[in-house]
Amino acid sequence: MRLVILLLLLLQQMHLGNAPWTEAVSVSLPAPSNVSISSFNMEHTLSFLPGADSPDSSRFEVQVVRLSKKSWKAVAACSALTAGQTCNLTRVFKDPLEQFRARVRAFTAGQTSSWTVSSAFHPLSDTVLGPPDVVVSGCGNCLLLRVRPSIWTQQIGLSMDLVINVKRTRDGAQFILTRPYEEEVEIPYLQRGVEYCVTVTVKTLFNDNSGPSDAHCAFTSPPPSHSLSVVYGLLGAFCALLLLLLLIGSFVCSGQLSVRGLRRRLPTTLSYFLLKVQDVGAAPPELSGDTLATLLHKEGSADCLLPDH
Ligand SMILES: *[C@@H]1O[C@H](CO)[C@@H](O)[C@H](O)[C@H]1NC(C)=O
Ligand SMILES: *[C@@H]1O[C@H](CO)[C@@H](O)[C@H](O)[C@H]1NC(C)=O
Repeated sequence: MRLVILLLLLLQQMHLGNAPWTEAVSVSLPAPSNVSISSFNMEHTLSFLPGADSPDSSRFEVQVVRLSKKSWKAVAACSALTAGQTCNLTRVFKDPLEQFRARVRAFTAGQTSSWTVSSAFHPLSDTVLGPPDVVVSGCGNCLLLRVRPSIWTQQIGLSMDLVINVKRTRDGAQFILTRPYEEEVEIPYLQRGVEYCVTVTVKTLFNDNSGPSDAHCAFTSPPPSHSLSVVYGLLGAFCALLLLLLLIGSFVCSGQLSVRGLRRRLPTTLSYFLLKVQDVGAAPPELSGDTLATLLHKEGSADCLLPDH
């Protein structure tokens, strides 16, 4: 009875096809999962996860195949990886026009797992190309872009297109335009004195995985309201400084620049200057004529304004 069950189990394993009967070592380790190849600017990296309950002593080996050749080859540098290590396949996949697969299995001193195979990888079209360098400047009612694609994009890019996203900062209104690649591109028919932000993506004949550039923002032309407000701000600051100097001057001249004197006199002097500023020209009735004279006399600052006698 036991023998029958054992035979049945063996038959089941054969049918599932995860038993390489040609190999001497027995298959009992959990197979790795998530075998994938990522690639940035033609630098290819294989990563994987150890199978669930994989013993800590497990090591992992990597093989690759060219889809045109059909025979698996071991990758010497990745013959005993530990869990969490990756395998650099940049040199192994150096023919960019070929298609490849990689596979990974776990092994210990006496056991191996079955192989877990990656999906097909095509270096030229699967690599993610770095974003282009972009400089944006205003040209009146237009923006001028200077675009330099990453080195790899230039090498792969038999025919390159620029996909340009233009977004108005004020309200987020945006549009996309596609242009054949040129070092300088003009985006016409924009509003003057308005800020736009631009991202640029380069697409090539074989590859549209290029990441977009960062957003680069610029005004089409200098915004007039902005520069005027700066001028007004500076004028305001200058007036405030002048007032402060006058205030300090009146105390120094009266020769009573003590902390107590300052505390006592500040309110009246300050309110005088404030009223003076508010009613330009027309002095308020309570401060005109005699009142003003007494105020100035009391502060002792009149001596300062008049010549010695
Ligand atoms: C591994 O792959 C499975 C199925 O494809 C997926 O659900 C899971 O998120 C992946 N895990 C990681 C860490 O990538
Ligand atoms: C992978 O190998 C390539 C070529 O030898 C090398 O330029 C690159 O720096 C390596 N990448 C990593 C992450 O080690």
